[in-house]
Amino acid sequence: MSNEKRASFGGKLSAILVAAGSAIGLGSIWRFPYLAGEHGGAAFLLVYLLCVLIIAIPVMLCEFAVGRRTHKNAVGGFRQLSKPWQILGFNGILCALFISGYYYVIAGWSLDYLVNSINGSLYNSDISFAQQYAQFTASPWPIVYTLIFILLTHFIIARGVEKGIEKASNIMMPILFIILILMAIRVAFMPGAADGYRFFLTPDFAQAFSADTLFTAAGQAFFSLSVGMGCMVTYASYFNEKTNLIGTSLSVSLLTLFVATLAGLVIFPAVFSAGLEPTEGPSLIFITLPEIFKDMPLATVWSAIFFILIGLAALTSTISFHEVITAYLAEEHKMSRKAATYTTTAITIVLSLITLLVTFDFNFLGKQFTSTFDIYDYGSANILLPLGGLFTCIFVGWVMKPQFFREEITNYGKLPGKIVPFLFILVRYIAPILILYIFLKGIGIL
Ligand code: TRP
Repeated sequence: MSNEKRASFGGKLSAILVAAGSAIGLGSIWRFPYLAGEHGGAAFLLVYLLCVLIIAIPVMLCEFAVGRRTHKNAVGGFRQLSKPWQILGFNGILCALFISGYYYVIAGWSLDYLVNSINGSLYNSDISFAQQYAQFTASPWPIVYTLIFILLTHFIIARGVEKGIEKASNIMMPILFIILILMAIRVAFMPGAADGYRFFLTPDFAQAFSADTLFTAAGQAFFSLSVGMGCMVTYASYFNEKTNLIGTSLSVSLLTLFVATLAGLVIFPAVFSAGLEPTEGPSLIFITLPEIFKDMPLATVWSAIFFILIGLAALTSTISFHEVITAYLAEEHKMSRKAATYTTTAITIVLSLITLLVTFDFNFLGKQFTSTFDIYDYGSANILLPLGGLFTCIFVGWVMKPQFFREEITNYGKLPGKIVPFLFILVRYIAPILILYIFLKGIGIL
């Protein structure tokens, strides 16, 4: 890779769309609704919003600065600025492996639901959607769909950064917004929808600021914005000198918040309308969404479109953590891009198969773990991403000179810098202190 010309993303819109493509995915459409459902709905939404604004956006700006300055992968980027800090890059690679270990499995579920929408079996069955979900997850099909999803990602990455990642995001993201809006409108007319809005929009403040809700919401803020593991370092390494980092981070965050909120506005009215429980956990969207479609004319068509959409949103995200590992292998281990892509895919397959095939049961830090799924999910969103985010802030806020941040944020003085001192206070003090506090409370030390 070192002698090849390094790729870059085209215009301003592309930088936003690829980063938003990474951010918006199962995190916003699947993970957010089920966590919100388990943590009081509106209370969770409120804390999640605060965590995005006060914690995740500053971390994203730091990652952008490191990536765009060095034009390197996560490990190489930090190392170029300060050798010992390359460990942050390795934390990111580890985290990318964790996420790879279960994300494709969920993406595979959405493929199955797509196929079963098209062939009609989802809506022609005598058993409930919850039973169908249980039957499916206990069958061998998830293995097939997970593998198909991994290969789809492989195919796009293999086409390279500009052709693959950029094109895919530019087409998929706008379609996603439109369909979600249509769904939210449709759900508003379902009987009993009002209870869903109440649940999702009127917060219980006591629950909002409990250690558990804070911990989960902060993890979700990192996860949904793809920050804390050097993913945005890797993507920003393809930005050019004109990319406006503040503008990009705000656009990406607002788009992600928009999609997560819309997902909530689709799911919760439907949950209450169908008499389901919001606390279903990971199965929530898979047993709720079909309820929305089943009485509609052309149910199978709408359902298919929606599961395509979830699949596409997942795909622009899987591309991004596949790319984190691929870019690292290609640049740090002097592999060809092709070999790096294949290696990453092979590792991903092994990790996913373990998740699909191995179950166990133990308790750690007061949490029940029953498969590597739980370990990967908890380990990435609640442990590795917050730690990565914390040290990324410490690195940019304390180890690097303040100029570094200012130069990158203002494109060396070409953009107005009035807001920089305020952002720097966030990066240097507020975000790291809050992350540390929430983290220590969350794991039960404080
Ligand atoms: N943000 C993605 C989602 O919400 C998942 C993701 C992609 C991610 N790349 C990441 C999470 C990097 C953390 C770090 O679906």
